Amino acid sequence: MEPSNENQNATSTSSNNPSKRPRPKIRFEYDDNDDDRVQDEETATDTSNLDDDLAMSEPEPNPDDTDVIGSDKTSADYYFDSYSHFGIHEEMLKDVVRTKTYQNVIYKNSFLFKDKVVLDVGAGTGILSLFCAKVGAKHVYAIECSSMADTAQQIVKLNGFSNVITVLKGKVEELELPVAQVDVIISEWMGYFLLYENMLDTVLYARNKWLVEDGLVLPDKAALYLTAIEDADYKEDKIEFWKNVYGFDMSCIRKQSIMEPLVDTVDQNQIVTNCQLLKTMDISKMAAGDASFTAPFKLVAERDDYIHALVAYFDVSFTKCHKLMGFSTGPKSRATHWKQTVLYLEDVLTICEGESIVGSMTVAPNKKNPRDVDIMLKYSVNGRRCRVSRTQCYRMR
Ligand SMILES: C[S@@+](CC[C@H](N)C(=O)[O-])C[C@H]1O[C@@H](n2cnc3c(N)ncnc32)[C@H](O)[C@@H]1O
Repeated sequence: MEPSNENQNATSTSSNNPSKRPRPKIRFEYDDNDDDRVQDEETATDTSNLDDDLAMSEPEPNPDDTDVIGSDKTSADYYFDSYSHFGIHEEMLKDVVRTKTYQNVIYKNSFLFKDKVVLDVGAGTGILSLFCAKVGAKHVYAIECSSMADTAQQIVKLNGFSNVITVLKGKVEELELPVAQVDVIISEWMGYFLLYENMLDTVLYARNKWLVEDGLVLPDKAALYLTAIEDADYKEDKIEFWKNVYGFDMSCIRKQSIMEPLVDTVDQNQIVTNCQLLKTMDISKMAAGDASFTAPFKLVAERDDYIHALVAYFDVSFTKCHKLMGFSTGPKSRATHWKQTVLYLEDVLTICEGESIVGSMTVAPNKKNPRDVDIMLKYSVNGRRCRVSRTQCYRMR
């Protein structure tokens, strides 16, 4: 895999990132001197630039409103709106593991793109289209549904690629291309926990509609993994906190809190078990329904310890390159903006080296809001110090 990001573990445990990438709850950094610990990430955003015409004409939606959808806006509208602001694109572009991998894939494998018709699904700023144009793509169609499409159009012109890149503003599912077929589809569609945001369906729709018979989808492979961690301090702070809030029982919020997976970087020293492959996906062949699955797992303890949470992460690969390329979002790799996804367990598992947690994970898009992901976890331990069997449900929203 290239770039090799193994063993460059980030030690940071949190990020107060002001971006708007739709995301479930994340851990926040706070100033020890500041009592206001539970800070809404979005309120920390510095978006006030009152001289900026764009900022004035397109006010950010109040994040508190996103659950209460008004009559004229749907949750999908809020999702796409979030990609209209440059901040989210800044975060993605500055994720060097992500963006450099795409750049290396394209620059070091120009034979895949030269004189080819390329479709960039969800082009954002147009960065992937620019990479493809630079290595000699015959034409690139860059589809972007948010108002970032207008900016991408300007960027394409600024860089002298207007004759090669055509930016199309709209949803992939609602647009027609000026050509019947494309040779290559490139996209950065991955969400937290791989499947949050459900943009994979959009890539599969584009593949089925426009890709030539022997065409390429990049990346073409994705894999989801699971491991288990010791995380007493943070479970106490985020979950058990609600049991006693200034002397009052707020454990009804604890129930909600434990159901929401947490997106954060995990220190590799917290890992107690092996890492198990849960699911592989071949983007060039799979059907949309394949993103819903039940996968069994067996996590074997590598030391005596307590386990407070399971942690999921993913890899993506570009297997059609000269040599295999891709990146991992795992805790043993250099951190990306996807971090890892932490699922806290109701029970604290006391586990001895060699004992295992066995179970299964069921993953499916939420029926009401398919951009959310429903996760059902079944696990049991039958060990010397701990016997437990439980089912827990989570929702990434
Ligand atoms: C994760 S971003 C990637 C942006 C860019 N390709 C990059 O790598 O920086 C995904 C982009 O896809 C767009 N998008 C998501 N679903 C889409 C759809 N159905 N049709 C068109 N664009 C879509 C979003 O607005 C967002 O800008």
